[in-house]
Amino acid sequence: MVDEQPGNFKKAPPDRGASSFIYPPTPANLDFFAEALKAGHVVAIPTETVYGLAAVATDEAACRSVFAIKGRPLIDPLIVHVHSLDMASEHAETPPELEKLARFFWPGPLTVVLRKKPSIPDIVTAGKDTVAIRMPRHPATQALLERIGGPLAAPSANPFGYVSPSLPRHVADSFGSKVPFILDGGPCEIGLESTILDLAGRGPARILRPGAISREALSTVLKRTVEAPLPKGEREGATGLIAPGGFASHYSPRARMDLFPQGNRPAYVQGSAILFLSRPEKGDSKNVFWLSEDGNPQSMGRNLFALLRKLDTAGFTRIHCELPDAGSEGIHLAIRDRLLRAAAR
Ligand code: TXA
Ligand code: MG
Repeated sequence: MVDEQPGNFKKAPPDRGASSFIYPPTPANLDFFAEALKAGHVVAIPTETVYGLAAVATDEAACRSVFAIKGRPLIDPLIVHVHSLDMASEHAETPPELEKLARFFWPGPLTVVLRKKPSIPDIVTAGKDTVAIRMPRHPATQALLERIGGPLAAPSANPFGYVSPSLPRHVADSFGSKVPFILDGGPCEIGLESTILDLAGRGPARILRPGAISREALSTVLKRTVEAPLPKGEREGATGLIAPGGFASHYSPRARMDLFPQGNRPAYVQGSAILFLSRPEKGDSKNVFWLSEDGNPQSMGRNLFALLRKLDTAGFTRIHCELPDAGSEGIHLAIRDRLLRAAAR
């Protein structure tokens, strides 16, 4: 849970009841959401990483609506969320290494790319023969998956290219009546999207997107080398199309983002916001913000997206943001990845 206000903003009113579309996860509401999903509707669900825009993964038409609502290109596949390892095995080839990973990291913020089985429609995987699978640990979404008895395909619940949602209100703010059912799971515990690990290739296991679960932790459990994400240029296929997961510009606020090296201070530019990783010594100016009070990486991760959205709403047109060092690991690396993408226009 969020234990602090994103740096330098006044305490916000409680989120509950902020929109008539946001429903608390009571048993009756969970029944309602499960029925709506089974009837082919798209709803927003909480996870420990970010909110997702969910449809039943085996329902091709509903999954197509997810792409349409998000404005997401059909070449960018969706993540499939499961309730159990058995459910994962129904829809993907699950090698023994997946069981090892599941024992340590599931339910949790790890997505694994596996060979797909025919039950998952091509629209979900963008025609690829692999599927990205994860078991989320948010109790409301676990309860929903259990009621449905099948998997949910869900990308992050933000318009394509914009900052991901870490509060139910973010979903309502972006989509309004286009997404009239949002299941309230409170603020996201992690606030950054899951680590994606590719186990489907014949080569070494490779991280496709860094998240809270580090390469070192994965490598320790697998007892083999796990490769870092490929640099941007090498993610683009021979066709010139950007490979899935490799869109450079992503997570961008409307404000222009300028990054400065960790430990530095940017020259002040009139009207800009300055965003530090930790509270700076002199931080009382109205345009100075920070992701954590004390350098705690969990707080930084939890606050990043909410703070970028707040700076947009506050009307800043330019944000100078401190970039974690190259060579960072875990959450710092995930923040570095998101900031580099947010700044790439
Ligand atoms: O934490 C998360 O992963 C959140 C929550 C809602 O679960 N979901 C999420 O989904 O971040 P999305 O769609 O915003 O990002 C999924 C990424 C995309 O970059 C997509 O290209 C990649 O996963 N992906 C999906 N299927 C893939 C596949 N078969 N092979 C490679 N990359 C894949
Ligand atoms: Mg996303």
